[in-house]
Amino acid sequence: MSPAKDDAPILAIRGANKSFGAIHVLHDVDFAVYPGQVTALVGDNGAGKSTLVKCISGVYSFDGADVEFAGNPVTISGPRDAAHLGIEVVYQDLALCDNLDIVQNMFLGRERRTGATLDESSMEKLARNTLADLSVRTVKSVRQSVASLSGGQRQTVAIAKAVLWDSKVVLLDEPTAALGVAQTRNVLDLVRKMADQGLGVVIISHNMNDVFEVADRIVALYLGRVAAEVRTTESTRAQVVELITSGRSGDLGLARADQVQI
Ligand SMILES: Nc1ncnc2c1ncn2[C@@H]1O[C@H](COP(=O)(O)OP(=O)(O)O)[C@@H](O)[C@H]1O
Ligand SMILES: [Mg+2]
Repeated sequence: MSPAKDDAPILAIRGANKSFGAIHVLHDVDFAVYPGQVTALVGDNGAGKSTLVKCISGVYSFDGADVEFAGNPVTISGPRDAAHLGIEVVYQDLALCDNLDIVQNMFLGRERRTGATLDESSMEKLARNTLADLSVRTVKSVRQSVASLSGGQRQTVAIAKAVLWDSKVVLLDEPTAALGVAQTRNVLDLVRKMADQGLGVVIISHNMNDVFEVADRIVALYLGRVAAEVRTTESTRAQVVELITSGRSGDLGLARADQVQI
């Protein structure tokens, strides 16, 4: 599954720090995303996963970090900067509007117009093509309201919305947390498909089965620090669980001195 040789990272973050008031959440975090690969970001509740994703997507700002995108230094000061670079996020609490249909949701805030009127047919076509590219067959009509969709279908629409914008990096925060077995299967297939299309994909998940099934590499956060980055093929579930729960596993992980400097 994982390529023999890694391409250069599409997104590389070095030395990222983030505090909320007196709470130092991210400590000197290094994090890279590779095109064509799925990177799993794992860690216990409160480890800082969502905070890292929100800083990457411009919802929050890092207090300090060197950020490179496609080899160039960049500053992400807001969601527009992230979107402009091609960074899209699918959040845990899906930001879809129930009263709108699939096309309206996918183009919300970025509608296509011809003159003063919305270009419905082009948006509809693009929505349909994007779903088809992802081999989504479970959605009957793109004019269905989102309220009528199952949890898995909503997740699918949220993912299709994220890849629609010529995205380069898609981050998914716990995309399978609320899903059943079959729906989880579909979402994991989509995640793999996005990477196979060349996107850099980041998935946050608590589920080791999901992580080992879909990820090429795993970055474990422990109390806001990177405990280790491992290749999925070169590690075991037990190792990753240990990294998550104690920040160490054998030779891997944080030195003990790091652990006490919380
Ligand atoms: N907006 C915020 N204000 C203050 N503290 C926050 C905020 N967001 C997150 N935190 C704190 O940062 C830490 C990491 O949270 P989070 O990134 O949500 O972790 P995770 O996603 O790994 O569970 C937690 O201690 C949390 O309480
Ligand atoms: Mg979280």
